Amino acid sequence: MTSAPTHAKGLEGVIAGETEICKVEQSALIYRGYEIADLAANASFEEVAHLLLVGHKPSADELKHFQAELVAERKLPEPVLNFLKTSGDLVNHHSAVPMDILRTAVSILGHLDQDCQDNSPEANLKKSKRLLAKIPTIIGHMQNSIDRRDFVEPDANLSHSANLLYMMTGEQPSEEAVKVMDVSLVLYAEHDYNASTFTSRVIAGTLSDLHGAVTGAIAALKGPLHGGANEAAMDMLAEIRNDIGHENDDAKIDAWMQTAFANKRKLMGFGHRVYKNDDHRAPILHALGRKAAEARGPEFVKLFELGETVQNIMETQKNIFPNVDFPCGMTYFTMGIPVPQYTPIFVASRITGWCAHIMEQHANNRLIRPRVAYTGPDLRNWND
Ligand code: CMC
Repeated sequence: MTSAPTHAKGLEGVIAGETEICKVEQSALIYRGYEIADLAANASFEEVAHLLLVGHKPSADELKHFQAELVAERKLPEPVLNFLKTSGDLVNHHSAVPMDILRTAVSILGHLDQDCQDNSPEANLKKSKRLLAKIPTIIGHMQNSIDRRDFVEPDANLSHSANLLYMMTGEQPSEEAVKVMDVSLVLYAEHDYNASTFTSRVIAGTLSDLHGAVTGAIAALKGPLHGGANEAAMDMLAEIRNDIGHENDDAKIDAWMQTAFANKRKLMGFGHRVYKNDDHRAPILHALGRKAAEARGPEFVKLFELGETVQNIMETQKNIFPNVDFPCGMTYFTMGIPVPQYTPIFVASRITGWCAHIMEQHANNRLIRPRVAYTGPDLRNWND
């Protein structure tokens, strides 16, 4: 066996590039100089999207123009509509999940975008805005198809968040629901070299196109160790309820957790590669989600109480803290969103961070091509 040079498994701690877009620290998450708690309290998702994509906080006029551009781009071309008409069947009767449908729909959009092969900053920005505008429509139409109902058309009077909620159900969302969704999208928008963003930069680094890079990023985000954790976290809470019953008996919850620990099970929505104390997006979303649960009724409060007990056991017994996906699962459940759409909704936000990174990569490119430590057999002859 050849002895392997040392390497960082999972690239842990490796600085793999530089960026002006986002800074992740133990105690702060900063988008282009603005801290996440400040943005969550004071900026709308569209403002944050402008900040990330265009590069600065929009003036009132710039914001109006940006919003109008997004609204004008919400509709989908015929071939994508036709594909989405089949999506209910693919999900209900075959092996697709909504993240797969979204990935394919984005890929088809690339075939139909006249700027697809153009990697110039101008074309990339136009394509980014188109994808940002169209992804909620894909999610909405896909959910309509899964529910076997006619497509709900986008509503030009609604914000990105309100329209996203509206298209999934055809019902005008409450102001409170829109606020919670909007803050969750602000929190999800960007997170430096996470796995999906890194994927998008690796693809863009070959001078491949923006739609291709986003398609790859969606595949990377789907996994439960990354964005898929918001669905997996809710599934886990549902599993605990199923196993111990709907009453939050602390002893039963603790026993469930001890079994999980004994089996070395990874609890979804906990832990983080960078944040070792806490993910400060999590308490922001938890507080909002809990407020929504209190407004919706005791069943939803009970879910949060279960989550809080699980969180307390993880923190006190394992010193492992929830990441943003843990409160997200409970929050989106409280809002009545179908669980398999949680990660697609993450995409409706993170598309801004991905596109900002793809543009940054194309603007100052060098192929991303690391080395690997070989651990296979020594040299041998085929005819031996
Ligand atoms: N449940 C139980 N134990 C855990 C968990 C968890 N969720 N996370 C970490 N640990 C333990 C792990 O078993 C290991 O223990 P030991 O040293 O005894 O083997 C120790 O903590 C270090 O964990 P690691 O797996 O080496 O850490 P990592 O940096 O490779 O993984 C992670 C980070 C996020 C993949 C991992 O914490 C995990 O699998 N969490 C669950 C999935 C999840 O919530 N993902 C969302 C990530 S953040 C937001 C996003 O991307 O959407």
